[in-house]
Amino acid sequence: LPRAVLRLAARRGDLQGRITVEASTGADLTGLFDEIRARGPLAATKVGHTTTRHEVVKAVLGNDAFITARPRFGAGVLGKLAAWSATNVMHPVQPPSLLAVEPPSHTRYRKLVTRVFTARAVEQLRVRTQQITDELLDDLDPTNPVDLIEAYCGLLPVTVISEILGVPPEERATVLALGGAAAPSLDLGLSWRVFRDVEAGLTTFDAWLTRHLDALRANPGDNLFSRLITAREDGVGLTERELKATAGLVLAAGFETTVNLLGNGIALLTRHPEQLALLRSKPELWANAVDEVLRFDPPVLLTGRMCAQDTTVAGIPVRRGQIVTTVLAGANRDPSVFSDPGTFDVTRPNARDHVSFGAGRHYCLGAQLARMEGEIGLRTIFDRFPGLRLAAGARRRPTRILRGFERLPAQLS
Ligand code: HEM
Repeated sequence: LPRAVLRLAARRGDLQGRITVEASTGADLTGLFDEIRARGPLAATKVGHTTTRHEVVKAVLGNDAFITARPRFGAGVLGKLAAWSATNVMHPVQPPSLLAVEPPSHTRYRKLVTRVFTARAVEQLRVRTQQITDELLDDLDPTNPVDLIEAYCGLLPVTVISEILGVPPEERATVLALGGAAAPSLDLGLSWRVFRDVEAGLTTFDAWLTRHLDALRANPGDNLFSRLITAREDGVGLTERELKATAGLVLAAGFETTVNLLGNGIALLTRHPEQLALLRSKPELWANAVDEVLRFDPPVLLTGRMCAQDTTVAGIPVRRGQIVTTVLAGANRDPSVFSDPGTFDVTRPNARDHVSFGAGRHYCLGAQLARMEGEIGLRTIFDRFPGLRLAAGARRRPTRILRGFERLPAQLS
């Protein structure tokens, strides 16, 4: 939905509008989550329903009557351009992106991708991820303040994903620039200026991907993307557009989500020194700490589903065409699942029950990779710079779906 529509809806008290507009201010949304939860399993919005109840979020995302909602393009110039772009250029959230297709296409497509993105393949990236992390930290000057988003959190995921996509080192800077320009397409309600830049970024990225795919086909390397190009299910592989959409989605996810896991984690741990002290005395808690960061301050605020056939959710009828907004961050604060949900506690026994990676058939493909990067990225920076503290000037991003920091200035020692 365009920004003006969201703002107007928020002013009229519409919950969907309020969530997205208040999110873009970086405000604490806990009160709003509680308000929505108190209205029942589903609360009415202008376009359907919303929920911050944990079991209802899982029920909607796991219900076959729902499909991933695609933004409907308006009739204006922006709408026409977006519709043209979505059919002609690789787009991370438009078909044939994995996120935007449903069975039977999704089943075949996801099977092929998961065959390559195995737990073992991710584990094999662990050593390389540690190396990349160490190199990035070697480059930081501990005597001067540094913006950790720019110099660390933003670079680590993208470098790991460049390895996955088989991008040669000399082309990394290009991919970084192209991916960065295209990545805001994951968010809602773009301004005209951002939209124009995103479209230009997607078009150039699409052309680069065509060349990159040709190069990998001619000269496959030891990377996951080369394996994906040759993967077959019943003799059928991914099409050129599916391969491009996968690369785009994987790259955008690296830019827009894992960066937030790292930034939100650094901010939380510096603000809770007692939790950091606990991690120092018991490093085996790091994996759980990453899940607690994901629960407490998730990189993706919400997702949505369109109802494709009349159904009921928690006994409430949902009609075909209605949108249900599942607020992942709200479900993570549901007191019926997480005791004392407003407390950041790295020892929380069920931290892993968060829904920050979604649920159901579109459950995040990169969850294991993100957890691994989060663990290495957070543990290593705090081990290396025990005196790390935030400096003045931290600023949250004005995004509506993605939650993280735009700037996170810090003094390393
Ligand atoms: C899907 C979150 C990192 C690839 C999703 C979804 C969420 C999510 C919430 C489901 C969206 C929906 O149901 O509408 C996150 C978070 C991350 C992260 C919080 C980091 C902390 C990654 C990474 C990759 C990745 C590193 C790259 C491998 C994907 C893909 C899908 C997806 C391909 C679509 C899966 C499908 O539709 O079947 N992610 N993600 N994500 N994610 Fe992630």
